[in-house]
Amino acid sequence: MGLVLGIESSCDETAAALVTSDRRILAQRIASQDDEHRPYGGVVPEIAARAHSERLTPLIAATLADAGLGLDAVDAIAATAGPGLIGGVMVGLVTAKALALAAHKPLIAINHLEGHALSPRLADPELQFPYLLLLVSGGHCQILMVEGVGRYRRLATTIDDALGEAFDKTAKILGLGYPGGPAVERLARAGNAKAVALPRPLLGTAEPHFSFAGLKSAVLRAKQTTLHADADIAAAFQQAAIDCVIDRSRRALQSADMPTALVVAGGVAANQAMRRALEALAGEFGLPFVAPPLALCTDNAAMIAWAGIERLGQNDPLDCAARPRWPLDPDAAPARGAGVKA
Ligand code: KG4
Ligand code: ZN
Repeated sequence: MGLVLGIESSCDETAAALVTSDRRILAQRIASQDDEHRPYGGVVPEIAARAHSERLTPLIAATLADAGLGLDAVDAIAATAGPGLIGGVMVGLVTAKALALAAHKPLIAINHLEGHALSPRLADPELQFPYLLLLVSGGHCQILMVEGVGRYRRLATTIDDALGEAFDKTAKILGLGYPGGPAVERLARAGNAKAVALPRPLLGTAEPHFSFAGLKSAVLRAKQTTLHADADIAAAFQQAAIDCVIDRSRRALQSADMPTALVVAGGVAANQAMRRALEALAGEFGLPFVAPPLALCTDNAAMIAWAGIERLGQNDPLDCAARPRWPLDPDAAPARGAGVKA
């Protein structure tokens, strides 16, 4: 049986976890930085880097202590090596290198997006390749065919904003604070989605990609009219976003070779209304729908440790670089428009 220590520090969560090859999370700790970033309405990279450097080492020690294990017990140390905010990524990767060197353990440099992409397999032992993955987080919005570990075919991406970013901006417009996604979802429950007419960018188009910038601007205009209740705007925004996601996912399912399952991962996968809509879509195609438990959707280190388990045997050189950008599918054709993220 394998045991991997995972480290995550690419955005605003400092996290460590111990995961076994038989899918047990022996211990995991997450220190969120929400309080530090809240006054600014979003993640401030320098504040994030400082918080990671203060917290990571004691957090790793506490995670090992929770499991009653020392570093000698692990088979490898896996850390996010990108993509993400470079200061935070460097803190995590350099710490992992030091631990690997000191404890004579292999280092496994993990792509954060691969952590999200494989996390459903940690939760569900039945999930087999290839599966169609909707990866929706604060920085990314992609549809990928996950053909195997390290084998990803990107079918769609966003030409402007990521979906989580659109939730966060909507929250900001409505004065809901940070982080925005859960707050928008909560308020949307009290609203009427039909009360505000909002656009659904790229709906029904032949091109496969996403766009959310126009929707965000429409939310701002709806708010500025002062005609609508905030709950109605939140509900209308969430429904428009879901309609776009379902339309793009249906298009991908129609155009791709049939996968074994429709899978969602990343922070926005925590959204219950989105999950229900995706489950119905999977049903249309006779596919199982797989979504990791909520705690595995937002950033965490268990998914990084699990990606390390999937890559056990790999031993990355100690001079491997932290990467602010690191696409899962480097061969994917660039999408038109600005703001291509990874
Ligand atoms: O995966 P994640 O934790 O970090 C990134 O890698 O970006 O995703 C964070 C994003 C944020 O934009 C947050 O607002 C969004 O996921 N999010 C949600 C929900 N929970 C988190 N969006 C919609 N509904 C939610 N319940
Ligand atoms: Zn993430």
